[in-house]
Amino acid sequence: MCGIVGYFGKRKAADILVDGLRRLEYRGYDSAGVACLYDGRIDVVKNPGKIADLRTKVFTQPSETISSSHLGIGHTRWATHGPPNEINAHPHVDASGRFALVHNGIIENYKDIRKVLEQQGITCVSDTDSEVLVQLVAFLYKGNLEDAVSEALQQVKGTYGIVVITDHEPDKLVVARCGSPIVIGLGRDETLVASDASAIIPHTRDAVYLEDFDMAVITDQGMEMCNVHRAPVSREVTAMDWDEGAAEKGEFEHFMLKEMFEQPQAIRNTIRGRLDFEMGTAVLSGLDFSERDAAQINRVLVVGCGTSMHAGMVGEYAIEEMAGVNAEVEQAAEFRYRNPIITPNDLVIAISQSGETADTLAAVREARQKGALVAGICNVVGSTIARETGRGVYLHAGPEIGVASTKAFTCQVSVMLMMALKIARTRRLAGHAGTQFARWIQRMPELVEQVLKQNDVIKAVARKYAKCDHAFFIGRGYLFPVALEGALKLKEISYVHAEGYHAAELKHGPIALLEENTPVIALLNNIPGKDKTMGNAEECKARNAPVIAVVSEGDEAVAEGFDDVIVVPDCPPAICPIPTVVALQLLAYHIAAARGCEIDQPRNLAKSVTVE
Ligand code: F6R
Repeated sequence: MCGIVGYFGKRKAADILVDGLRRLEYRGYDSAGVACLYDGRIDVVKNPGKIADLRTKVFTQPSETISSSHLGIGHTRWATHGPPNEINAHPHVDASGRFALVHNGIIENYKDIRKVLEQQGITCVSDTDSEVLVQLVAFLYKGNLEDAVSEALQQVKGTYGIVVITDHEPDKLVVARCGSPIVIGLGRDETLVASDASAIIPHTRDAVYLEDFDMAVITDQGMEMCNVHRAPVSREVTAMDWDEGAAEKGEFEHFMLKEMFEQPQAIRNTIRGRLDFEMGTAVLSGLDFSERDAAQINRVLVVGCGTSMHAGMVGEYAIEEMAGVNAEVEQAAEFRYRNPIITPNDLVIAISQSGETADTLAAVREARQKGALVAGICNVVGSTIARETGRGVYLHAGPEIGVASTKAFTCQVSVMLMMALKIARTRRLAGHAGTQFARWIQRMPELVEQVLKQNDVIKAVARKYAKCDHAFFIGRGYLFPVALEGALKLKEISYVHAEGYHAAELKHGPIALLEENTPVIALLNNIPGKDKTMGNAEECKARNAPVIAVVSEGDEAVAEGFDDVIVVPDCPPAICPIPTVVALQLLAYHIAAARGCEIDQPRNLAKSVTVE
């Protein structure tokens, strides 16, 4: 949520900052800005709207400061406090214009700080919580920027990832983090700062991830680290292994489309080396617990938000069915505040693509506090949840830039299925059954490829329904979370009001909403419960709602009498969420495309939700 960049080096700062913001735009895209320092002067350019607009503003008749500067900061915003206008856009500057700051996070006590500043005759001009920070730093400044930042941060309640500059010390960036990710890239003759690696990767692979309460002082002498109380700390330099092209759209019109088509390879990367066909189990070395520990697990609790929570639901079903272990999924925001009962024999699995979602992170902390065994399933290497859980499984899906999560979901489900297999093999699952299941997991990329080949068929169905205002997705068993996920995909990118329901639940209320232009997407794959869902789909049809039937290959007769059909490969119940969800992703994508929506940057959303 919000993207931050900072640069100090030999190259032109404005070029690097604007390009970095373009790569971070998925983190927030309602306004953006840069501040560059040169020859004792800070110039700020900011704009409501997209990075492309900012680029035009920065590079059309740039000031000497902008065109000559080698040190600067930039920000792309997802508004929390105050509307997305120029004043509220970052970087914020203090009243003297000599300090500039970019901030990601929320300063909870900003009103108190603002009052104190007002008593000193300092007036904030924006509606944001962030501006108080730069005003406070300037107020506390006595000749050393890091001292002022440290003093200011000790007065702050909330979360922050910040970069601050001042023309009093023109060769210095001060960076700090608490709750909002910051990575520092160490290049040759240059240092870059960003809220995630995608802005840094084109320039260097050597990165230092800041931890909470870390501060970094970047000067022409290099980088020094301490904590906000100014005690020295040291952090390892990590080699980032993402391929630069992975964060570019390439020949695809949208990142979402590219990422959907990457799914076969992404799943291959997720499962590579993790299946043991001989023992019929999964080898998840990052989980760091033995077969014996796995056998002690009494209950599995899965926490996550949005799409990640839906992936957790598929895992819940698989763990209960295959391992016979009680499994529950909970919305992370609810888990963290309701004082959950947790015992040492509970395994809490936190699922998060970004590894930074505030509520999921808080759930991890709550579970650890209560003594549970905690594991993370994350995509972003070195992310906070990955580090704080200390054990877990990386997806290796590559960067997911499209705001609507696609490949992360299928890879998360792949990991959940492998976890279920691993736990099941310490319990009741026989070796040969484990081997058979492992073979199905290995076939998942091929099943996805078969669905992707039907892109044109699904596009044609999508076009038919592109004008609808409402849609319902229904499914049972393993397809219930897929119905929820299909509806989430459709609503977030096309703005069609879509609801996912358990097929049986429809007649307990929502059926009242059905009419002739409200399509119902019925997941009628060949798994237990199919006949019941067919009955529910008939009930919708009887109310004149058009039904799009998703059916298993070889079982097409099921679709007779319905309006449209999408065929997906036939596979066992636990595997079928994978090909089915890909069909629904494509359907949502093509409906959104036909409606002319901004697919990679849907309104009001941001990729990584680092505030509650
Ligand atoms: C929807 C979507 C979100 C995320 C949710 C959790 O397409 O992407 O619902 O799944 O914000 O994000 P992570 O997985 O990063 O914790």
